[in-house]
Amino acid sequence: MKPIQVGLLGIGTVGSGTYNVLTRNQQEIRRRAGRGIEIAMVADLDTARAKSLVGEGVEVVADARAVIANPAIDIVVELIGGYGIAKALVLEAIAAGKHVVTANKALLAVHGTEIFEAARAKGVMVGFEAAVAGGIPIIKALREGLTANRIEWIAGIINGTTNFILSEMRSKGLDFATVLAEAQRLGYAEADPTFDIEGVDAAHKATLMSAIAFGVPVQFDKAHVEGITKLQAADIRYAEQLGYRIKLLGIARRQEGGIELRVHPTLVPAKRLIANVEGAMNAVVVQGDAVGTTLYYGKGAGSEPTASAVVADLVDITRLHTADPDHRVPHLAFQPDALADTPI
Ligand code: HSE
Repeated sequence: MKPIQVGLLGIGTVGSGTYNVLTRNQQEIRRRAGRGIEIAMVADLDTARAKSLVGEGVEVVADARAVIANPAIDIVVELIGGYGIAKALVLEAIAAGKHVVTANKALLAVHGTEIFEAARAKGVMVGFEAAVAGGIPIIKALREGLTANRIEWIAGIINGTTNFILSEMRSKGLDFATVLAEAQRLGYAEADPTFDIEGVDAAHKATLMSAIAFGVPVQFDKAHVEGITKLQAADIRYAEQLGYRIKLLGIARRQEGGIELRVHPTLVPAKRLIANVEGAMNAVVVQGDAVGTTLYYGKGAGSEPTASAVVADLVDITRLHTADPDHRVPHLAFQPDALADTPI
């Protein structure tokens, strides 16, 4: 069978990782997906750089809409980021009957309801494993592995940049600005690092996790968001002297009136596992009524860890699409039918 045809919109850090993982592991991936997965087209404004990153058989264009307009493309992978053009392109891809995979947490946390509804109406799938906690398969865990549970709460370190900053400030006594510059150099931080350090990126991810875990609408605007910019080196030192570490946690939990969603620096007893998650790593703790406490740990950012999640969605979509090419398959990533109007 002909490999499923994928078009990438944007080939930066995650896009090049996706191409490399798919190429390097193509035999295993074909076996697991039941069919080959081929990046047939890449759209990037820097076409010369894009051409240098992919093989000769891949068509490179500057215009993302040429990918969406190509009837041979089955899945569009949006790796542009942000709310603007990315939103328009995702909706256009869905309208054109393409499945979509995206790592764009900001887009989905703010416009997810509209995007998921458009996908449901069109009968296509939207995969976003890469949008939350990078390579940790937390969306899959919440949606599939823990599906038998009533989830009580989720708490996680879901922003690598801020965890890196807090770790380096504590262990090396470095100042905030120096460590932030290093996080940017290492490629952990968002294009606008304000989203990282003000807690917005973590709130985007917590919003998406809460929608999956609790069946509530995607309501980023209901989250309480506080970042790490007001923290001083002395706060971190005093916390340590008292037997705590300061971690920026994203927390979603059931309360009487609905689901509480918040992101803020939190004092965590130093002997807890999550207190010892250091550097740009992520960790998510999920409490389910049947399973008890579960912990997921791994790289939350970076080229191949995030690509690992993108490719996992590509494999899932390939399996389902191949089983029913008319797209009449259970919606992969999100089930708007299951949404309740629970206030957050
Ligand atoms: N800026 C994000 C982080 C990248 O630091 O976690 C991954 O979403």
